[in-house]
Amino acid sequence: MDLSTSYLGLALRNPLVASASPLSNTVDGVRRLADAGLGAVVLYSLFEEQVREEAERNARLADAGTDSFAESLSYFPADADADPGPRRYLSLLERAAAAVEIPVIGSLNGVTPEGWTSYARDMQDAGAAAIELNIYYLPGDPHITGREVEQRHIDVLRRVKEAVSVPVAVKLGPHFSSTGEMALRLDEAGADGLVLFNRFLQPDIDPETLTAVSGLDLSSPAEARLPRTWIGILRGRVDASLAATTGVDGPADVAKYLLAGADVVMTASALIRHGPEHAAVLLDGLARWMDRKGYTSVDDVRGLLAVPGAADHADYQRAGYVRTMRAADGAPQSALEPATEWSPE
Ligand SMILES: Cc1cc2nc3c(=O)[nH]c(=O)nc-3n(C[C@H](O)[C@H](O)[C@H](O)COP(=O)(O)O)c2cc1C
Repeated sequence: MDLSTSYLGLALRNPLVASASPLSNTVDGVRRLADAGLGAVVLYSLFEEQVREEAERNARLADAGTDSFAESLSYFPADADADPGPRRYLSLLERAAAAVEIPVIGSLNGVTPEGWTSYARDMQDAGAAAIELNIYYLPGDPHITGREVEQRHIDVLRRVKEAVSVPVAVKLGPHFSSTGEMALRLDEAGADGLVLFNRFLQPDIDPETLTAVSGLDLSSPAEARLPRTWIGILRGRVDASLAATTGVDGPADVAKYLLAGADVVMTASALIRHGPEHAAVLLDGLARWMDRKGYTSVDDVRGLLAVPGAADHADYQRAGYVRTMRAADGAPQSALEPATEWSPE
């Protein structure tokens, strides 16, 4: 079975990609993911806060040097060596990229246009096959307009695109007034890929201890419906590659994302839950399903259930919604079929 495909212009042996997670915290971790059969690995993110800490530390060190040269001589090397952030990340990236045959993608997690570009370039120099911008921006200030939030995404992308020559993907959240238009704008601004969607931490409240509890739960397959819907809508409407992330647990989840139109399917929770070797289960299951259905390549499958180009999206989505609600109410299906119903050949 031919599972080979391309993503961001990179040739991959299959469309299953390890998305950013602690599984790629070490070179051994990346090697284990590659040995498990994944087509590419996105490293865990380098956080903007780490970048800023380094800049502040460097400024402090520069001050110390002008105030007291003798003090800075004993102080500087120890502090620089202790830096756990960017330098460790770049070193990991360099060693991981050299250790495996598959593409290793660097990930930058930040919110402001400043601070991204130099590290994006450093990642490229360290051997990143591409860069994923994990734009984790929750506009908590109620005065920020939607347009400002969108523009921030565009500005970050533009700056990084100007700084590097490797492909750049944008991992974005689902919370825009018009997610589709945001995707089109990113596409026009030169995004080589769109990764749908970021999964934001949503703190819980413990009523016993009266505290806010932050925690990262692993995903469930039901959460794949939102990104899958958007991939189905965007397929054929953007030049950028489409990567699906969220809710993959079994081979059917991978097949469903491909049918919707994903170029690659990313997974983190399932690999954390079942171990990296679960990749083989996903890939074997995908190959067996394709065989059973008579498909011989990933291209045969991709986008078969994308929203057709001619469909009126608003009517299409609304028709599905009305049909579902009426069916739940006991109304006869025949009267409710949307005019734009489609199915794979
Ligand atoms: C423990 C953990 C750590 C993660 N760290 C990152 C990260 O550093 N950068 C990032 O872009 N996404 C990160 N993610 C998000 C995943 O890459 C992925 O997009 C998300 O979990 C949805 O995919 P899944 O349902 O397969 O887990 C993390 C997810 C988990 C569970």
